[in-house]
Amino acid sequence: MEFLDPLLLRYSEDHTSPESPWLKTINRDTHADVSRPRMLSGHLQGRLLAMVSHLVRPKAILEIGTYTGYSAICLAEGLAEGGRLITIDNNEELEGRVRKYFRESGWEQKIDFRIGKALDIIATLSDTFDLVFIDADKENYGNYFDAVIDKVRMGGWIIADNVLWSGKVLDVKPDKDTRAIVDFNRKVHLDPRVENILLPIRDGLMFMRRKG
Ligand SMILES: C[S@@+](CC[C@H](N)C(=O)[O-])C[C@H]1O[C@@H](n2cnc3c(N)ncnc32)[C@H](O)[C@@H]1O
Repeated sequence: MEFLDPLLLRYSEDHTSPESPWLKTINRDTHADVSRPRMLSGHLQGRLLAMVSHLVRPKAILEIGTYTGYSAICLAEGLAEGGRLITIDNNEELEGRVRKYFRESGWEQKIDFRIGKALDIIATLSDTFDLVFIDADKENYGNYFDAVIDKVRMGGWIIADNVLWSGKVLDVKPDKDTRAIVDFNRKVHLDPRVENILLPIRDGLMFMRRKG
């Protein structure tokens, strides 16, 4: 299910700052060479993530789900001086490609790319994060929220992607991943530690702010 008329989407993209040449390359190469390119955040959502990051000016960002590194670079754009972004993915096959993108685009020094299961790696982190982006396996969304909430500073942000799951959140008989997203949306909506807004942008973005 597309939530926005394709012509309006095109119009919105045409009136949004363009992707940098490197993001354009990653977007194009991912669509040409990598399976499931729809997972990449893309132009409009990428610019939104960059804009949010510029607003927050984070010193520390955690991303769960790197894929080919597109959203990591968008989020890194708003890092404060001396800040860094940790991004985690368990797909070893993409590691060489992603490290090359980070190196050649000039973001390597600010992006700490970790390979492994996200829950295992998060458990080893002692950082406090200003911004967390959840964009990996849907069945663990609730677990990711639980794993990161105490690592987010008071007033800090968590953003989760795909929370409308192509509209399947309305299914009467949801499949496993849809059930996980539905449970996640209810869980964070009812959690008194955060205020939240579900934005029907692209596949749905849940914004959560840790109450201070
Ligand atoms: C939707 S893609 C991320 C897209 C990326 N954030 C972007 O916007 O360009 C999801 C990624 O999560 C990774 N992933 C899935 N399960 C994971 C897990 N348990 N731990 C770490 N990464 C995982 C997949 O390998 C995949 O690359």
